[in-house]
Amino acid sequence: MAIETLLKEKRIFRPSKKLVENSNVMQWMKEHKIKTYDELLKVASKKRSWFWGELAKELEWFSPWKKVLDWKPPYAKWFIGGKFNIVHNALDRHANSFRKNKLAYIWEGEPGEVRKITYGELYREVNKFANALKELGVKKGDRVAIYLPMIPELPISMLACAKIGAIHSVVFSGYSAKALQHRINDASAKVLITVDGFYRHGKVIKLKDSADEALKDAPSVKKVVVVKRAGNNIKMKRDRDLWWHDIIEKQKPYCKTVQLEANTPLYILYTSGTTGTPKGVIHDHGGYAVGTYATLKWVFDLKEEDVWWCAADIGWVTGHSYIVYAPLMLGVTSVMYEGAPTYPDPDRVWQIIEKYGVTVFYTAPTAVRMFMRFGRSWVKKHDLSTLRLLGSVGEPINPSAWIWYYNVIGNKKCPIMDTYWQTETGMFVITPLPITPLKPGSATKPFPSIEADVYDENGKPLTNKGGDLVLTTPYPAMLKTLYKNPSRYEKTYWSKFKNMYLTGDVAHKDKDGYIWVQGREDDVLNVAGHRIGTAEVESALVSHPAVVEAAVVGKPDKIRGTVIKAFVILKQGTKPSSTLVKDLKYHVGEEIGHIAKPAEIVFVDDLPKTRSGKIMRRVIEAIELGKPTGDISTLRNPETVNALIKLKNNRK
Ligand code: WT7
Repeated sequence: MAIETLLKEKRIFRPSKKLVENSNVMQWMKEHKIKTYDELLKVASKKRSWFWGELAKELEWFSPWKKVLDWKPPYAKWFIGGKFNIVHNALDRHANSFRKNKLAYIWEGEPGEVRKITYGELYREVNKFANALKELGVKKGDRVAIYLPMIPELPISMLACAKIGAIHSVVFSGYSAKALQHRINDASAKVLITVDGFYRHGKVIKLKDSADEALKDAPSVKKVVVVKRAGNNIKMKRDRDLWWHDIIEKQKPYCKTVQLEANTPLYILYTSGTTGTPKGVIHDHGGYAVGTYATLKWVFDLKEEDVWWCAADIGWVTGHSYIVYAPLMLGVTSVMYEGAPTYPDPDRVWQIIEKYGVTVFYTAPTAVRMFMRFGRSWVKKHDLSTLRLLGSVGEPINPSAWIWYYNVIGNKKCPIMDTYWQTETGMFVITPLPITPLKPGSATKPFPSIEADVYDENGKPLTNKGGDLVLTTPYPAMLKTLYKNPSRYEKTYWSKFKNMYLTGDVAHKDKDGYIWVQGREDDVLNVAGHRIGTAEVESALVSHPAVVEAAVVGKPDKIRGTVIKAFVILKQGTKPSSTLVKDLKYHVGEEIGHIAKPAEIVFVDDLPKTRSGKIMRRVIEAIELGKPTGDISTLRNPETVNALIKLKNNRK
């Protein structure tokens, strides 16, 4: 049965003529005699290998590939036989060019200190650390676990590994000891790189203590490198723990970049996963480099003089692809910030944009809604006129947040690039370009050459009805496999529909071919015989002026099978009341229809979220049904669990 599509969003926003004319993608189209967006999509789909081969030529190869694509579903090899290293493209070539003294990163610590790092400096630091890793016995193919916060040593560590052909596995610094231990053991990492402590919300987070806890049962780790950041007291284990500053001291600032076949693994990244045990996604050097480079260049239109700020954490794929690898390959200047976006005040982000003149800003809908909650007065204190493009990622952006982002942050002149992708895809796969007419709430169309469709249970394409979102063609940054688990790779992504990649998301395609993601398949509710995506109901709730965030779950009901229960966070200063409950139910009915009306609404201060800001409906539902909450080690805010349990018990 198809999934209902209830959201009715009709607004269209067209990019300015100036933006279109000056865009990188338009420049490329002119060079290749392509006139329109539609023609670009057509040509790139028809001549996939030619298209990616052209883009790959913009990077430097030690020796050329023999074939662009070898597609034996479900395994794709890109740029076969090409000799390549992503670090040569991200660093070495800039260090020998006019970019040597250009800033690669402007880093700001939460307490306010600033480190400005040029391409030349970054190159030397990476080389020194790569030599140190070699001294510790790290060889090509070895796994190195990295448990670091948002400090420059994080990208330096990743690049140093990649330079010598080692495989990095970054574990988000917000994760617990247990989560770290699981990931170290799954990958049998030889070395762990961590920190004494770092700043978050004005406090020192003692990361080395968590690392020590994890290492109690992680026998593969022989050496631990510790960065001194917060200066808090830590225990250094003799023969195992080494200070970063000690081991790089005597290293030479030059280290040869190894030449690798393009399909050689670059990293393992475990998916955040709102359900199930983490999966070790593998990305490679060549295809991943080409895919992330091209998408950043075209979608966010980055030019030599741009100041780019992707306000994600490097601990998830957004940061791997679009804070570390792609911006460095493009040679742009990036802002990197250590701490909480609301510390010490809710305008920290706007302050940073003003201070460094950020031109392109990329964040998540959950952050946008949080800023909405604090109100526009915090924004108005700052001059954000340097901004020219905005981006969104992580979940569907509800139209009301889109409009707020567009009006208040972008001052009605910055198009919003709503980029749909996953840890698995490595790069944006469904996304607007600066030449695409935008519809708030839709990630628009697949990136050129990629094809996406929406299928019913039998694999029949659907229009204007919700179903499984599938990608029907390969693209360069697509995951290679799951680490040491190809059967899980085949089963998870490729078994429901033959030779089609199952995203696990529910979406619908409108008559113009625009894709509207409605949420994760696991979150679809069945209400009185209607299958409804949680994201649509949540979006309808958030479009009410009193609401900033909402989560809905299904609750068994004798008559209707399942009814919807909503957990709502109100705007600051709004008082919960029974009138407001009625008002919200009525509002959802008006916005998307009677069947989607929540039967019950409760008001909460916060909702359980993953590190990447996704609401963990599974946990809310478990609490609601009085079931065990399962693994909550990946929660960003585990304290919300007790708050919800308390709320439930009080209502009894
Ligand atoms: C899932 C992937 C890719 C970095 C984000 C986290 C959801 C992501 C969008 C978007 C609607 C989106 C999907 C997807 N998602 N971007 N623009 N519109 N949904 O990566 O943790 O692997 O999560 O995030 O559900 O499957 P991830």
